[in-house]
Amino acid sequence: MTTIGFIGSGNIGTSVAKAAIAEGYDVVMSNSRGPETLAELIGELGEHARAATPAEAAAAGDFVVVTIPMKAIGDVPVEPLVDKLVIDTNNYYPERDGQIEALDQQQNTSAGLLQEHLPSSHVVKAFNHIQAPQILSTATPSGTPGRRALAIASDDPASSTLVASFLDRLGFDTVDLGPLSESWRIQPGTVGYGPELTQAELAAATAAEQRPAPLR
Ligand SMILES: NC(=O)c1ccc[n+]([C@@H]2O[C@H](COP(=O)([O-])OP(=O)(O)OC[C@H]3O[C@@H](n4cnc5c(N)ncnc54)[C@H](OP(=O)(O)O)[C@@H]3O)[C@@H](O)[C@H]2O)c1
Repeated sequence: MTTIGFIGSGNIGTSVAKAAIAEGYDVVMSNSRGPETLAELIGELGEHARAATPAEAAAAGDFVVVTIPMKAIGDVPVEPLVDKLVIDTNNYYPERDGQIEALDQQQNTSAGLLQEHLPSSHVVKAFNHIQAPQILSTATPSGTPGRRALAIASDDPASSTLVASFLDRLGFDTVDLGPLSESWRIQPGTVGYGPELTQAELAAATAAEQRPAPLR
């Protein structure tokens, strides 16, 4: 049985957890306020879910989903995630997260910053451009005509391959953007961010994207 640890149990964490449980995974959920505050969610998710602290969820996961506001990534536990695959769903919204110089200046990406925080983990960006409920409502089996695709990016190609398999099980094709340094192609405000696109459509949209100028 594969266990997925979740750091963050909000909109995206809950939707990915539901989709994963339906595919036979176990999940360990965590948030900022403590496992006791997740009792209702665990009741909803059922017997394949339990609540823990972020450090416990990180340690328990065969792989781990970090799905929290960008401003909180400094809190993500480092040691229990060493050598692990970490899926990063996060987006940068300055109005929520405050101004982050490296992102405003286009010197890094949000996923690149998480990778810097977790230097011995394998960060894969995924799920950042789909609205949480659509993780369940727009999933379709492999081979379905018009199947939706989701973008991924990672500095570790083997981890990208694993996440592509996971996404396929959950109901999505994949567009691999390559390294995390290319993940700006699917950040908020891009053409691919939000709409339901097939693999060919998402590949074309992300390839054509122009990087914004640095903020003055
Ligand atoms: N909502 C979407 O449709 C969507 C789509 C794609 C990507 N995203 C991105 O994915 C991330 C999560 O979005 P969301 O909508 O799921 O957010 P959300 O509903 O606000 O949930 C955030 C979760 O993160 C937890 N959290 C906050 N600070 C934490 C910390 N320091 N340590 C551990 N857990 C912490 C919160 O726990 P507490 O409640 O206890 O504070 C909560 O469980 C964001 O970066 C967002 O931009 C969202």
